[in-house]
Amino acid sequence: MTSREVKQIAYSLGAELCGIAGLDRFSGAPEGYHPRDVWPGCQSVISFACRFPAATAACGSAAAYTRVRNSITLFGYKKHLEQTVEEQAETLKEQKRIIQMQAEQLKTTEAFNRLMVEYRAAIMEMETRLQVLNADFSHAYNRNPFESIKSRLKSLTSIYEKLGRRGIPLTVESIRENLTDVAGLRVICSFPDDIYRLAELITTQDDILLLRKKDYIQNPKPNGYRSLHLILAVPIYLSNEKKHMKVEVQFRTIAMDFWASLEHKLKYKRDVDNADSIVRQLKTCADSIELLDLQMQAIRDQIDHSRSPV
Ligand code: GTP
Ligand code: MG
Repeated sequence: MTSREVKQIAYSLGAELCGIAGLDRFSGAPEGYHPRDVWPGCQSVISFACRFPAATAACGSAAAYTRVRNSITLFGYKKHLEQTVEEQAETLKEQKRIIQMQAEQLKTTEAFNRLMVEYRAAIMEMETRLQVLNADFSHAYNRNPFESIKSRLKSLTSIYEKLGRRGIPLTVESIRENLTDVAGLRVICSFPDDIYRLAELITTQDDILLLRKKDYIQNPKPNGYRSLHLILAVPIYLSNEKKHMKVEVQFRTIAMDFWASLEHKLKYKRDVDNADSIVRQLKTCADSIELLDLQMQAIRDQIDHSRSPV
């Protein structure tokens, strides 16, 4: 940015004088008043001035001066903020309009509809495999390792928002390449160790590939979020071909799911004064839930060990 542009901005915001000085002009400044004392990286100083009514200085009270100064500076600042916000809103509106147009076009393409059929098939395939494991485990140990499975196909709106955030174009190829959670399953287990048992059983199936594992149970997120996330590639058999599709599977206990569901709802209501305290309280709840999970698991172990063999 040139000094002319800087001055233009100052004038457009209401300044009546504006000048830019090099640091050498401040060589004699007393300690604490040198520009580098205020901002160590300072290279030059922009000064601008606005006219004060003469009476402000003559009235003998600092109050009048302070009021005028505040209204001059705040007025300029407010004007600047309004301009910036307006410009950003316009740009965002335009970007959204373009993306929406692309999304509308994409929705009607054969390739996109076909891709969604493939992701739906991947969800069905994955869910069946997990249900089979549940039935087999239940037969062998007389209890189910998971309580329920939820699944969802990511909506087109979420797909374009996610790609848009990363600055990736909205095409069938980029969805396939860049997104790993178009097909998503959530497996709600009874106990933490069931999560690892199920994850082990599913990842060792010889036609399933483990692409990525995020263990937020061993390493919870700083806010207290806990779950095991696996990105898997699962084979699907279509009428004319076989292909591997990416699927995100989240494993949680009932207690972890309870926390995550409520935290997710509260996330959108954080525009409050005591946001820090709320974050801390949610973390405390997450810690209590972790303890609860381990206690319930210990109770289950006691019951299992005290059962007389049949
Ligand atoms: P996304 O862009 O949201 O998919 O994040 P990511 O690609 O970094 O993946 P990550 O595995 O961290 O999170 C994926 C999903 O896990 C999210 O879409 C949520 O469903 C869930 N999740 C992750 N972090 C949190 C959290 O702090 N709170 C809650 N409630 N859910 C979370
Ligand atoms: Mg996601």
